[in-house]
Amino acid sequence: MANVTVIGAQWGDEGKGKIVDWLAARADAVVRFQGGHNAGHTLVIDGTTYKLSLLPSGVVSGTLSIIGNGVVLDPWALRDEVARLEAQGVSVTPDSFAVADTCALILPPHRELDGLRESAAGKGRIGTTGRGIGPAYEDKVGRRAIRVCDLEHLDSLDPQLDRLCVHHDALRAAFGREPVDREALRSALAEVAPFVLRFAQPVWKRLKTVRRAGARILFEGAQGVLLDVDHGTYPFVTSSNTVSGAAAGGSGLGPAATGFVLGIVKAYTTRVGSGPFPTELDDAVGQRLGERGHEFGTVTGRKRRCGWFDAVLVRQSCAISGVTGIALTKLDVLDGFDRVRICTGYRLRGKVLDYLPAHAADQAAVEPIYEELDGWAQTTAGARSWADLPANAIKYITRVQELIETPVALVSTSPERDDTILVRDPFED
Ligand code: GDP
Ligand code: IMO
Ligand code: MG
Repeated sequence: MANVTVIGAQWGDEGKGKIVDWLAARADAVVRFQGGHNAGHTLVIDGTTYKLSLLPSGVVSGTLSIIGNGVVLDPWALRDEVARLEAQGVSVTPDSFAVADTCALILPPHRELDGLRESAAGKGRIGTTGRGIGPAYEDKVGRRAIRVCDLEHLDSLDPQLDRLCVHHDALRAAFGREPVDREALRSALAEVAPFVLRFAQPVWKRLKTVRRAGARILFEGAQGVLLDVDHGTYPFVTSSNTVSGAAAGGSGLGPAATGFVLGIVKAYTTRVGSGPFPTELDDAVGQRLGERGHEFGTVTGRKRRCGWFDAVLVRQSCAISGVTGIALTKLDVLDGFDRVRICTGYRLRGKVLDYLPAHAADQAAVEPIYEELDGWAQTTAGARSWADLPANAIKYITRVQELIETPVALVSTSPERDDTILVRDPFED
């Protein structure tokens, strides 16, 4: 198994960026396959922090980085992100970075519609990142999208623009908004087109060549399984499939290329945005997790909701996504607790459940059943080997693997790239 697919196994922000960057040193290509700039992946290398939303986390280490067809691409956000990274000394050139020519574009009307819907929903809002992700995927599936390859054919774009705008104008009218300014949209696209086209290509072909040459490919998921549009806490989800299976369709390589599926799992649970969260803590413990874990969104700066580790959810995510092994991150955030809790099941109207039911009302009503373990007073922060871990931290990890029925391959003990313990090498499996 030469390739590795990294996915989030909770509600996102598990530390995927850090782990992808760490693995990227041993990969030949890193590929994003779904989502868009709703993602926020943080890398810390020798004290310098890099924040990535669209660019694959391989760019910082100079590994060939590819945005696959499954991603929805905001071309202006891409240009800004490339400029930000170049200002930090990271070079992004057509040699090191490619974008699928079939990516659907996120346009200003998508962002506006996202905002209008969220404002109108009031308390029922999803709490999206406001990046236009949902509306862009709707247009892709509705066969109205403008795609990267269309930027090369701006002279014949009118029929497509009309088709898209007719749809949006009707939606906008319902919110009392003006129709889309087609001329402004056309000229904005013409202005950004040369930048995007520098990187555009049939990436499935490039990946085929890379794969035939025996290269190691690392697929980088965004969000997490519980935000998956099919398997997540619907409707409080994102608009793409975030499971490992999406790596094949979203990149143009077959499912056999997916390789070792590495589920990234935080040692506790967080969620940003609305929706059910069985182990959420509204008390001092939740506060402490948020403070120690610096749980603020990379993209929106929103405070993340925090709670104990939920083994039921992670076991479900690992099963649904065919996870081969997990990377357990942010173990250091649990340092210093006298006792730590793990959710092992749910109670729903007198019944005990070992899975999260499908209906939103049931998901909101389940009560966690906890198991308590002794905490550890010593620090795990910065530990780089198993031997550096306190006995009770090892007991915690061991219990997590038992409950989720999936082995631990890596443990992360700080935001820094090298503060990582390798238990089982995903590339060598
Ligand atoms: P992603 O979206 O899954 O890539 O995760 P984010 O980057 O949004 O959020 C994870 C946060 O935790 C980032 O600020 C990381 O720098 C940080 N982080 C990652 N691994 C660890 C760890 O093991 N310990 C601590 N304390 N922080 C970590
Ligand atoms: P990374 O890759 C955490 C959440 C939003 C909202 C829901 C829908 O950094 O883990 P969207 O803008 O996608 O339509 O919002 O999904 N969400 C994330 N939460 N991490 C992310 O990405 C997320 N991307 C989207 O908060 O609840
Ligand atoms: Mg994030």
